[in-house]
Amino acid sequence: MVGEGKPKAVIVGGSIAGLSSAHALNLSGWEVVVIEKTSAPPSGSPTGAGVALDPLSLRIIGSWLPRPELIHNITLPLQIDQHLATDSEKKVCWTLIRDEDFNLRAVHWADLHRILYNALPPNIFFWGYFFLSVCIVDDKSSVIIKAKVLKTGEIVEITGDLLVAADGSLSSIRQKFLPNIKMRYSGYCAWRGLLDFSKIENSETIKSIRKAYPDLGKCLYFNLGPGTHSVLNELPNKKLNWIWYVNQPEPQVKGTSVTMKVNSDMIQKMHREAENVWNPEFVKVMKETKDPFINFIYDSDPLERIFWDNVVLVGDAAHPTTPHCARSTNMSILDVAVLGKCLKKWGAEKLESALQEYQNIRLPVTSKQVLHARRLGRTKQGLVLPDAEPFNLKSVTPEKCQELLLRNTPFFSHLPMLLLDSTSSSIDFWGNSKNLRPKM
Ligand SMILES: Cc1cc2nc3c(=O)[nH]c(=O)nc-3n(C[C@H](O)[C@H](O)[C@H](O)COP(=O)(O)OP(=O)(O)OC[C@H]3O[C@@H](n4cnc5c(N)ncnc54)[C@H](O)[C@@H]3O)c2cc1C
Ligand SMILES: *[C@@H]1O[C@H](CO)[C@@H](O)[C@H](O)[C@H]1NC(C)=O
Ligand SMILES: *[C@@H]1O[C@H](CO)[C@@H](O)[C@H](O)[C@H]1NC(C)=O
Ligand SMILES: *[C@@H]1O[C@H](CO)[C@@H](O)[C@H](O)[C@H]1NC(C)=O
Repeated sequence: MVGEGKPKAVIVGGSIAGLSSAHALNLSGWEVVVIEKTSAPPSGSPTGAGVALDPLSLRIIGSWLPRPELIHNITLPLQIDQHLATDSEKKVCWTLIRDEDFNLRAVHWADLHRILYNALPPNIFFWGYFFLSVCIVDDKSSVIIKAKVLKTGEIVEITGDLLVAADGSLSSIRQKFLPNIKMRYSGYCAWRGLLDFSKIENSETIKSIRKAYPDLGKCLYFNLGPGTHSVLNELPNKKLNWIWYVNQPEPQVKGTSVTMKVNSDMIQKMHREAENVWNPEFVKVMKETKDPFINFIYDSDPLERIFWDNVVLVGDAAHPTTPHCARSTNMSILDVAVLGKCLKKWGAEKLESALQEYQNIRLPVTSKQVLHARRLGRTKQGLVLPDAEPFNLKSVTPEKCQELLLRNTPFFSHLPMLLLDSTSSSIDFWGNSKNLRPKM
């Protein structure tokens, strides 16, 4: 171990998985530092959009916060998962299926980031540090990380007992250990936006969207059109979150980001195309949204392993996924909660056993979830599946519609004991334990 006393983890990535790792490892008695390439913590709410959290993730987050009740202030319930279909010619909608026992909560990415960040000591963060490389020392007792200080160009070395890679779906750390893993383009991109309606609450746009979608504020709405689908829900502080998935060829400009800045011509074209597909109430919301953006949707086949000696992957780095099961953030939270428990159980001396147990618990379930999300996305976009007829909105059977429900996403067949101890002792204001998983 490096020096005396507490073992030390270097976490690369200061987003949700990185901050969550800092909390979970601190609770397990580890010293942590976080290296993040962006120059400062995100401030204000323009960053990111809507995220859905399940009851288990909420409890785990609560167990990390000095005042868990504050999560209530930044989330809205999503009690209902409702799938509609839209007839693009007549612009009429009808319900395909509705689950009134859904039990997630909606949060703005930036708010979640803020509460996780504010509950950590600021001196563990290195903002504006770009991770370059990791070297595992010969006897595997520690790792040496090289990072570039972006402001000065200086290269620094940081030593630790463990490297936690929370560097996102394009992880350069994963790339080093698994150079042959390629991201798979889903076949579609997502137009996304967040409409702040705090100043236009009584406008026609808001009145008509509430009339067309009466359960806004407690419902996650999906709307299926011909070969396309969209998502709509409300977020705290008077915001509407929307997503529209559009089939299109893989973009040629491949940078290091899956988010793309767009120009006003593209936005106008998107508005015109939306008019051909969606009901006018939804189109109005899209048109009034400032700065919509595009995400190109990628995932990756499940990895064969997620740790090597003293390097471990968590969050999107461990399982790049499409967003259709609302899993990405809550998978990250469960990853690090399990990692923390494994490290505590085995101690820093038995790091390999700890990481092996983490992998044994997480890899099978996250792999299934990634593949399930992939399938659901293809179904909803009317794309070919090897073993199923394309989804036909007008002739679809009720049994087939069951497949659309998010509660049918694979989960642990039973919750690992490791997690049960931690969550039962934390404050139980999310309901009793039967709500831990969506009912089948
Ligand atoms: C700014 C932002 C906004 C987001 N908004 C939403 C949203 O609205 N809805 C949603 O569902 N998901 C959103 N996400 C994605 C969401 O956070 C993830 O899908 C999920 O929570 C898992 O997160 P992650 O921490 O594993 O990965 P990510 O969130 O992708 O975080 C990876 C982090 O690693 C950092 N990093 C990468 N490479 C290096 C390097 N070489 N050196 C140092 N740092 C590095 C990145 O800057 C980033 O902060 C957002 C992510 C970001 C970064
Ligand atoms: C965990 O964080 C708290 C402050 O938030 C700090 O006082 C404590 O020493 C940390 N524990 C470890 C093991 O670093
Ligand atoms: C949380 O919400 C309650 C009531 O909605 C409010 O009184 C309180 O000030 C809020 N707290 C914070 C810290 O925002
Ligand atoms: C949240 O994430 C876990 C772990 O990856 C997943 O198994 C579970 O089904 C998710 N829950 C919901 C309701 O999204």
